[in-house]
Amino acid sequence: MEIFKKASEMQAWSRQIIKQGETICLVPTMGYFHKGHLSLIEKGKTLYDRLVVSIFVNPTQFGENEDLDSYPVDLDNDLCHAERLHTDAVFLPSKNEMYKENFQAYVELANLPNHLCGLSRPVHFKGVATIVTKLFNIVMPDAAVFGQKDYQQLRIIRQMTKDLNFDIKIIGAPIVREDDGLAMSSRNAYLTPKQRESGLCLSKSIEKAKAMIKLGETDADIILNKIDVFINSFEKAQIDYATLCDPETLETVKGIKGKTLFALAVNFGKTRLIDNAILDPEQ
Ligand code: PAJ
Repeated sequence: MEIFKKASEMQAWSRQIIKQGETICLVPTMGYFHKGHLSLIEKGKTLYDRLVVSIFVNPTQFGENEDLDSYPVDLDNDLCHAERLHTDAVFLPSKNEMYKENFQAYVELANLPNHLCGLSRPVHFKGVATIVTKLFNIVMPDAAVFGQKDYQQLRIIRQMTKDLNFDIKIIGAPIVREDDGLAMSSRNAYLTPKQRESGLCLSKSIEKAKAMIKLGETDADIILNKIDVFINSFEKAQIDYATLCDPETLETVKGIKGKTLFALAVNFGKTRLIDNAILDPEQ
């Protein structure tokens, strides 16, 4: 497994692979791997000739009061997993390598960031769109895999890929969960045992919303009021948002007519957890 710290070395490797007529799949990550990350690597590896994983805790997607400085790191473990899953190359740049002095060219989307997580994390998606653009230009992949756990991120990357004419297939991968339903996240490591217990309110809310829709409820306000009461019954859980919205535009809906995105973010002390599901009244 190759490890590249310089963008120029990574680019040279990719160029060589492309010249050989082989395909490349990229899995962008911020490291501290869990089974969610590993599922993306496995998926990419089966579909394309070469698999590149990037590990970079991207400072521009963290707000001033967020957890950039305490973001968990375990590089040895990550490299061990990457090697075991037959990753061909790991791109492991430093902050200076990615953001040279006088960096100015940010990538920003007009509407999609003005919903859901973007409301409480105003700089987040500008940072994500910028770093993913840079990774696309450095790795030059045929495809890239992203998790549906970060639904808004995936939606934004699909839009950006289309709008900026990246010739890259964006593959969405399903949410990997713990046995009890909690969506896997690097941030789960921050939770105290009590918060970990209360963290189940997210996946349980999804089950509750699904059950209400199955019983024929179509009024978004009625569903969301019940979900609010439900989440507030969990100790230490503070709702950031719990929303029913259009899966394409991310705009909130009043009634459940077709496929609808149910997305939620809940704070437990300083730890913010997210989860989502597409609800389909036809099913
Ligand atoms: P990170 O949080 O490390 O996540 C890397 C990838 O793993 C993302 O595509 C994310 O959606 C996916 N992922 C996380 N938890 C998952 C789960 N439980 N099941 C399935 N997939 C999961 O997302 C980022 O990093 C960054 O924003 C990044 C795209 C790398 C840009 O910096």
